[in-house]
Amino acid sequence: MNIRNSTPADLMNMQHCNLLCLPENYQMKYYFYHGLSWPQLSYVAEDAKGNIVGYVLAKMEEDPDEATHGHITSLAVKRSHRRLGLARKLMDHASRAMVESFKAKYVSLHVRVSNRAALRLYAHTLKFEQSEVEAKYYADGEDAYAMKRDLTKLLDEFSEPKKLFLPFREKQPAQVTPQVAVIEDTTEDFVDNENSQSGLSVLAEDNLIKEFKDSASMT
Ligand SMILES: CC(C)(COP(=O)(O)OP(=O)(O)OC[C@H]1O[C@@H](n2cnc3c(N)ncnc32)[C@H](O)[C@@H]1OP(=O)(O)O)[C@@H](O)C(=O)NCCC(=O)NCCS
Repeated sequence: MNIRNSTPADLMNMQHCNLLCLPENYQMKYYFYHGLSWPQLSYVAEDAKGNIVGYVLAKMEEDPDEATHGHITSLAVKRSHRRLGLARKLMDHASRAMVESFKAKYVSLHVRVSNRAALRLYAHTLKFEQSEVEAKYYADGEDAYAMKRDLTKLLDEFSEPKKLFLPFREKQPAQVTPQVAVIEDTTEDFVDNENSQSGLSVLAEDNLIKEFKDSASMT
C-alpha cells in the first residue's frame, strides 16, 4: 500500500471512491478546484496494482480574520481496505503538507454526529477536539461536529533550523607536510635561492637535467 500526493489524473478515481463511501458527493469541478488551488494537500492511497483505495481531499481556508488553517473536505477508504491505518496516514500527510507549505496553525473538519468510526479516528487517534455542533449541517438534516486539530507543534518542528547529518567518513590520515627536496647549492654562481620557492631553483633543476643527460649518454 502506498500513500502519495494526488495528481489531476487521480481526481476521477477519487470521486469514484467518494461515491462508493459517502453520501456527501461533489461535482468534478470541485475536485479540480482543490487539485489546482492546493496541489500539495490532497493524497491518495493505492494498492499494489496502482488502484486508488482511499483519498483525502484537503484545502486551505481563506478567511483573513482567522488564523491560517487547513480544512479536510472529504476523507474515505474503500471498505476492502479499512482498519489498515490508511485514513490515519492520509490525514497525517495532508496535515504535514498544510504546515510545510502554508504554515497552518490548525486543521478543521466536519463529521456527522452519528459517524462513530470517523469520530473515533478523529478524536482518539488523531487528537482532534470538538469545537461546536453545527445544527442541520448536512443536506439530510443531520448535525455535524466541527472539529479542530492543533498543528502548532508540527509548525515548530518545521521552523527549527535543520540539523545537518553529515555522512560517515573514514578517519582521514594525519596531514603529511610535503617533503621538499632541497638540493644542496653547489652552483653558487648560478642558483638564485631568493627566487626559488621550493628550494629547487630553476638553475639547479637545469643542472640536474644536464647531469642526468650526461650520465645517460655515458651508458
Ligand atoms: C472513517 C474511515 C475513513 C476510517 O478509515 P480507515 O482507513 O479504516 O481508518 P484507520 O485504519 O486509519 O483507523 C485508525 C483508527 O480509527 C479508528 N477507527 C477506524 N475505523 C473504525 C471503526 N469502524 N470503528 C471504530 N473505530 C474505528 C480506530 O481507532 C483506528 O485505530 P485501530 O484500527 O488501531 O483501532 C473509513 O471507515 C471510511 O472511509 N468510512 C466512510 C467514509 C467516512 O465516514 N469518512 C469520514 C467522513 S467525515
